[in-house]
Amino acid sequence: MSDETAHDILLSARGLVRDFGPFRAVDGVDLDVRSGTIHSVIGPNGAGKTTLFRLLTGILRPTAGSLEFAGEQLAGRPTHVVARRGIVQAFQTTSIFPRLTAHESVCAALVSKHRRSRDLITWFHRGLAGEASQVLETVGLSDVADEQARALSHGDQRALEVALALAMSPRLLLLDEPTAGMSPFESHKMVQLVQRLAKEEQLTVILSEHDMDTVFGISDRVSVMHQGRVLADGPAPEVRRNADVMAIYLGSEA
Ligand SMILES: Nc1ncnc2c1ncn2[C@@H]1O[C@H](COP(=O)(O)OP(=O)(O)O)[C@@H](O)[C@H]1O
Ligand SMILES: [Mg+2]
Repeated sequence: MSDETAHDILLSARGLVRDFGPFRAVDGVDLDVRSGTIHSVIGPNGAGKTTLFRLLTGILRPTAGSLEFAGEQLAGRPTHVVARRGIVQAFQTTSIFPRLTAHESVCAALVSKHRRSRDLITWFHRGLAGEASQVLETVGLSDVADEQARALSHGDQRALEVALALAMSPRLLLLDEPTAGMSPFESHKMVQLVQRLAKEEQLTVILSEHDMDTVFGISDRVSVMHQGRVLADGPAPEVRRNADVMAIYLGSEA
């Protein structure tokens, strides 16, 4: 998808900066994310990826810069407002309720989205049970819907975290190292899920991921961060060929 006109820009960050005291973790990042694409942000540890994600979701306020999403300026808005506009990060809360079942967990997330129905008992009357089942089916957890969250395998727990994010009806889903700590089989399942979400649910995804075969296998576009800056970005095949990118990786792994 290298055609510049093929997708509308959904999210556009300009000059994003985030300081922690005297340290500049994100240093003037520009980022354009096209609607319906999988856009990976890669870079060595400490490059600023997680901090950038926190700026995009409103968990952190930018020291400077702008963030336009679907035509609206969101920089500095609180995270619940940003989530309501459609930017949601999976795992941002690690809010899996260990004793609830997978299905109950998604119901609870749906209740928090439909804020007026605070009474959990009403979720069944509002069709939330069916909606939750659909979300679980989307992430491939139908078989374990009635298992307690804490009893799920690591891979299934992370899929449940994606389900909790999906319950918020995101337009843009952020996944910060979703395959971390997973077995190759679990990673493969997560990667397939991400692809399915982009293709079938028309979700736009921003992904941070260490495994380069995965990154270049599923990404439409890639931004490479290093020391808080974007060193390279563009269509995945182009970035893959970029010698600077190779140098950073070879340098950091050496
Ligand atoms: N809350 C914080 N306070 C101080 N420094 C931070 C904080 N969060 C991140 N940093 C620093 O910012 C840099 C970028 O971190 P991070 O965004 O987590 O990078 P990445 O996700 O690419 O590994 C690191 O040097 C990290 O130590
Ligand atoms: Mg990180």
